[in-house]
Amino acid sequence: MNRNFTGLDLASDGDRSANNESTIDGPGMCTESIVAVSNTAQSLTERPAWKALETHYHAIKDLHLRQLFADDPRRGEYLTAEAAGIYLDYSKNRITGETLRLLLQLAGECDLHAHIDAMFSGGQINSTEQRAALHTALRAPENELIVVDGLDIVPAVHAVLNQMAAFSDQLRSGQWQGYTGKRIRNIINIGIGGSDLGPVMAYEALRHYSLRDMVFRFVSNVDGTDFKEATSDIDPEETLFIICSKTFTTTETLANAHTARKWMLDKLDDVRAVRKHFVAVSTNAEEVSNFGIDPANMFGFWDWVGGRYSMDSAIGLSTMIAIGPENFRAMLAGFHAMDQHFRTAPFDKNLPVLMGLLAIWYNNFFGSQTTAVLPYDQYLKRFPAYLQQLTMESNGKHVTLDGARVNYQTSPVIWGEPGTNGQHSFYQLIHQGTRLIPCDFIGFCQTLNPLDKHHDLLMANLFAQTEALAFGKTMAEVKAEGTPDWLCLHRSFEGNRPTNTLLAERLTPHTFGALVALYEHSVFTQGVIWNIDSFDQWGVELGKALAQRIMQELESPGEPRLTHDSSTNALMRHYGRLKGV
Ligand code: F6P
Repeated sequence: MNRNFTGLDLASDGDRSANNESTIDGPGMCTESIVAVSNTAQSLTERPAWKALETHYHAIKDLHLRQLFADDPRRGEYLTAEAAGIYLDYSKNRITGETLRLLLQLAGECDLHAHIDAMFSGGQINSTEQRAALHTALRAPENELIVVDGLDIVPAVHAVLNQMAAFSDQLRSGQWQGYTGKRIRNIINIGIGGSDLGPVMAYEALRHYSLRDMVFRFVSNVDGTDFKEATSDIDPEETLFIICSKTFTTTETLANAHTARKWMLDKLDDVRAVRKHFVAVSTNAEEVSNFGIDPANMFGFWDWVGGRYSMDSAIGLSTMIAIGPENFRAMLAGFHAMDQHFRTAPFDKNLPVLMGLLAIWYNNFFGSQTTAVLPYDQYLKRFPAYLQQLTMESNGKHVTLDGARVNYQTSPVIWGEPGTNGQHSFYQLIHQGTRLIPCDFIGFCQTLNPLDKHHDLLMANLFAQTEALAFGKTMAEVKAEGTPDWLCLHRSFEGNRPTNTLLAERLTPHTFGALVALYEHSVFTQGVIWNIDSFDQWGVELGKALAQRIMQELESPGEPRLTHDSSTNALMRHYGRLKGV
């Protein structure tokens, strides 16, 4: 086992921007020969790198981070990578040079380069829906050429951005008025899933840059409480609804949109008011117009943008109104900078690739079930929730692209809370529980809200947590402090808990865009290794269809004839008895 390695020793796939030739670093490294191997429909667990990783795992699974750092004290300086203003320290992971070499070999055997090229060039990588996944085109500069079905799509992307910018400027300046001539002060985004989580997360993340004389709210849940609480203290005459739905057929969103329409008309009593108070973001112009929204007030996007990859499309209209077109464009530039890095950087310096491969290492070899994402920035409080959809809807799959059931685990469960709150809640389990939970820590060197010593305190906690998780506290150390024998085990920390740390200078729109793109591409990397479609979501269909059937039964007059299992039937009867009128 090679414990004394430097970054230069790592197998590299070469700098593809400069040189398309692959580098060779020992047999079976990430080269064309491996591309050829991956072109056979070889099962993941049969791949040479996978088998080697299994053997390697057994050899190093008990190796402690204390030992790794003792053997190689400079490890924390070079097991790092930086791109688009984001610095990744991955030295506190349970890896050796050999681990990385094998993970990079696995990426090669799974033909990750070709998959990345296919994504960026509009290949139909969403194969079960026979679509491209071209969210990267949403942030392509105007002079880039991306051809889909014989058509350059970049001009259309920029046309929508310009339409959004003009509309945002009108709202921000007060030029766009409500039907009765009042200034619009409240923006309510109605959407769910990717049509909600992205907008609300981005609004919170970039709130520092937002207009403070406007109110932004987000209604997603079909539970009427969500709508009621969002509208109970505002004036319909000063309110604009953005109905965000890629399909414009999503039950929850349409229910909320119709309720919003009624709420508006109850006060304004004239359907002509709708065009002043409702705009839509969708790919479905027909349904938007059926709803009564003026097609001139519709902002389009395309079926090659997945819902959970859409926050930088027109779905981000609320974000643009809040932070202004210039900041929105800076955010897009951040996304694009990370896209370029993902596309061109050698894999051993490539942040999304490294993070994706490390996720595979813990998920598939250590058997970790979950990953915690812990932002040490209050503005990122909704980031873990956003990543839940991005990761779990993308990679929560059990069938390979070849149509076979997988014989390995796919997506981990993602969860998290901002630091330091989590420290006083669930960190106990991460430190001393029985499960191995890899964590991503995210922090910024400069705060947007300097207040006395708050920021140093916050960051001291971040650094302390990753140090404590890695190195722990031995029984001997606890005993040396005078702890009675019976208490020593309780007070000791095994350590060897792996973490990534992401550090950036400041939470700017640019850095934020780069951060989101980093996770998008890490999720994609994992999906490629698992050989699954990261862009479909068939798993939400069954529940939707059953809910429609049950809804009809709940609404039918008299005692409905229930045809479900005994549990569901009994629950529905109980509900029927207690629900009142
Ligand atoms: O949950 C399923 C899903 O299709 C998500 O992928 C999507 O983000 C969400 O529903 C909302 O869909 P739409 O934007 O079409 O209303």
